[in-house]
Amino acid sequence: MAPTHLLHVLLLGGVIQLFFSRSEAGEIGVCWGTVADNLPDQSNVVQLLKQNSITMVRIYDTDAKTLRSLANTNIKVMVSLPNELLNSAASSPSYALQWTKDNVASYYPATLINGVAVGNEVFNLAPSLTPQLLSAMKNVQAALASLGLADAIKVSTPIAFNSLKVSYPPSKGEFKDDLVSVMSPILDFLEQTGSYLMVNIYPFYAYADPSNHISKEYATFGTNPGVFDNGVKYYSLFDAELDAVYYAIDNISGGSVRASLAQAGGRHNRRIPVRASETGHPSAGRVNPPRSMATLADDDSDSVATKENAQNYNNGLIKRVLSGATDMPDVSAYIFALFNEDNKGGPSIERNFGLFYPNMQPVYEVDFVPTMASWCVAKTDASDARLQAALDYACGHGADCSAIQRGGRCFFPDTKLAHASYALNDYYQRNNRASGTCDFGGVGSIVNQAPNLCDPNQASWCVAKAEVGDARLQAALDYACGHGADCSAIQKGGRCFDPDTKVAHASYAFNDYYQRNGRASSACDFAGAGSVVYQAPSKFTCTRTLYLARSCD
Ligand SMILES: *[C@@H]1O[C@H](CO)[C@@H](O)[C@H](O)[C@H]1NC(C)=O
Repeated sequence: MAPTHLLHVLLLGGVIQLFFSRSEAGEIGVCWGTVADNLPDQSNVVQLLKQNSITMVRIYDTDAKTLRSLANTNIKVMVSLPNELLNSAASSPSYALQWTKDNVASYYPATLINGVAVGNEVFNLAPSLTPQLLSAMKNVQAALASLGLADAIKVSTPIAFNSLKVSYPPSKGEFKDDLVSVMSPILDFLEQTGSYLMVNIYPFYAYADPSNHISKEYATFGTNPGVFDNGVKYYSLFDAELDAVYYAIDNISGGSVRASLAQAGGRHNRRIPVRASETGHPSAGRVNPPRSMATLADDDSDSVATKENAQNYNNGLIKRVLSGATDMPDVSAYIFALFNEDNKGGPSIERNFGLFYPNMQPVYEVDFVPTMASWCVAKTDASDARLQAALDYACGHGADCSAIQRGGRCFFPDTKLAHASYALNDYYQRNNRASGTCDFGGVGSIVNQAPNLCDPNQASWCVAKAEVGDARLQAALDYACGHGADCSAIQKGGRCFDPDTKVAHASYAFNDYYQRNGRASSACDFAGAGSVVYQAPSKFTCTRTLYLARSCD
């Protein structure tokens, strides 16, 4: 890597850290389903994962070849104990131990197994095994503990979203009556073992039901006004459904387990994170069965299962997971699925969840390392009164506006527009660029190109080099003062006349010129007499622009 590139990455890293310090983001994974007869060889799939910077997968078994292919890749793997083995794992601790040795411990740590999904949607797919579920989870967990792997590898179980009886509004979230007595001890177990609940969340089902009147934007992470419930504004159906699960957990907990440290800023009772063990969006097919099967081919799509919606949903999900959302807990999620799987039964959408075709060509473009930088700026046509109102709001609600106060590093340019943009953007970044946090009554506008905003951490100054000699300094000084620098303060009697040296006066003029020209590096050239510095110059006590020295004001 070229040094300049490295520098760029380091700077970028600093910026990202600055912007993302509010919350620890979630991680995004992909479900590697294999209900198909035409998928590429595992080693090719692992190359595909790497090419797309996919760092986490969920598999539905413990296939040896798959786990070996994933060795030494740093890709985290959630493995599964399938429903067919639940009975054995529940009834026999020694079976669970042997299974764990053979299917987990023997691959770890070369293969970074980070979880065991015990069963899959048991309440739906194998309801008769429901009474065995917790025992199986406990036996696998005990096996991991006895092998010293209980910290690295968590045991959970993926449940279907329809385990909830009520999911709307989110604050009324409640588990089905017959699952309350099942979920209650499972939640206790997950809390005690520091694990998480896995829920398969597919918002498009609710979106596809026209009686719900859900907008496409809300369903697919587009820009939307948000949906308000119980003091929280949700900007995506995914978040609303996720929160319904948290409320359902609260409801089971009966309010009796009010842990002080809770999810989502204290809105929820217990410390049981929820992971989306599957979520995604079909890119073709029909969500609802056609009236006449005979008239529709497999690839007849409705208006929900489109490539555009699937692409918006999955790209939006990735950004949501990586950058967090206001008032919502961080969440990790697995996109279902890696490939279109031709042998899946059911309605045609079931065969159209893949990000890739079996030939490894993308069904649509998904970016696992999205450029999430965006900025909030004030609209140039907003009146000063509206700019001031937006500015006051931002500064009064969490934005750090100290840099735009007189004497602050970003006081110049001293215009309402520049100050408002600074404040609005600071507020927007602190809220992790969540939808709705750049509105400000219509004054704010999101831009995806870096605007010319003052960055207080990147402040720089232009100073004169003494060694070029007084003659060159005078020529450059004349140039700066004749081309826009305000040199009144360094005239005899001006407040920055002292120290009366050529280099001090030149530094004053150079810096004034440089700041006025947006700190463009070319604006500190002065035929080699100027030099950019990144530390406020200590002897340079008289700049009226950025470094407003107290002694000189
Ligand atoms: C659980 O939900 C039911 C039905 O809405 C409600 O009556 C009950 O008070 C809730 N319990 C808790 C602890 O929130």
